[in-house]
Amino acid sequence: MRKKIVGSSWKMHINSFDEASTLAQGIAERLGSEEEVDLFILPAFPLITMTKAMFYGTNIKFGAQNIAVAEKGAHTGEVPVKLVKELECAYVELNHAERRSMYNETDEMTAIKVGLCEQYGLTPIVCIGETSEDIERDRSRMTLRTQILWALENASPAFREQIILAYEPVWAIGQAESASKEYIAKTHKMIRELVKADFNEDLSNKIRIIYGGSVSPETALQLSDVEDVDGLFVGRFGLQAENFEKIVNNFKGESR
Ligand code: 13P
Repeated sequence: MRKKIVGSSWKMHINSFDEASTLAQGIAERLGSEEEVDLFILPAFPLITMTKAMFYGTNIKFGAQNIAVAEKGAHTGEVPVKLVKELECAYVELNHAERRSMYNETDEMTAIKVGLCEQYGLTPIVCIGETSEDIERDRSRMTLRTQILWALENASPAFREQIILAYEPVWAIGQAESASKEYIAKTHKMIRELVKADFNEDLSNKIRIIYGGSVSPETALQLSDVEDVDGLFVGRFGLQAENFEKIVNNFKGESR
């Protein structure tokens, strides 16, 4: 049985301590004792310590939006995995479409970072997703398969089960609405089948696959009963505590 999980990356939308503390406090008050669903928040690096303090004693976990590709050394401007671990992060987001398109991150880098996460006991949330060009050229399946292989191959079989695959169709990020329920259901099923074919059935049954890309309270309601959707990865619509709570509750099916 896969436990549901809902998380939010604040990206660089939240860019001050004031905003971060108001939002973290609101989320802690509303969702701090949530047990049915795993929850995580990924703030910008300098906000992690404060977020950690705000979530102390709650069930809300936190993590980083990225880590460096190397463990230590001359990597100006990068953040080492060891510090992320020492800050007591639980999760690390990897391979986000924005990192790929704006900062030239590659599949190879993601695979190395997954290895670093395993070494340091952090759970990677690995983003995968096709572009609209992939759809036009009828190669979405191939793109997803390649990304899944890179995400999982560099991990031990036991660690693979912990990795979270975040399906984020690139064309659905930053839009007014998420992809349709039918499209998401179909693609999540395909992702699980790809994991089964390239790895094994046990892993495909255990691995959590979450959806991201313009997730709103309405999306959460629609996806709450879709078998292969184990969670949600929220962006802009999670930047108000009330909205984020609504998304979590809708995904639990509470407003049915
Ligand atoms: P939006 O929900 O703002 O589209 O962001 C999605 C996302 O990329 C989450 O990581």
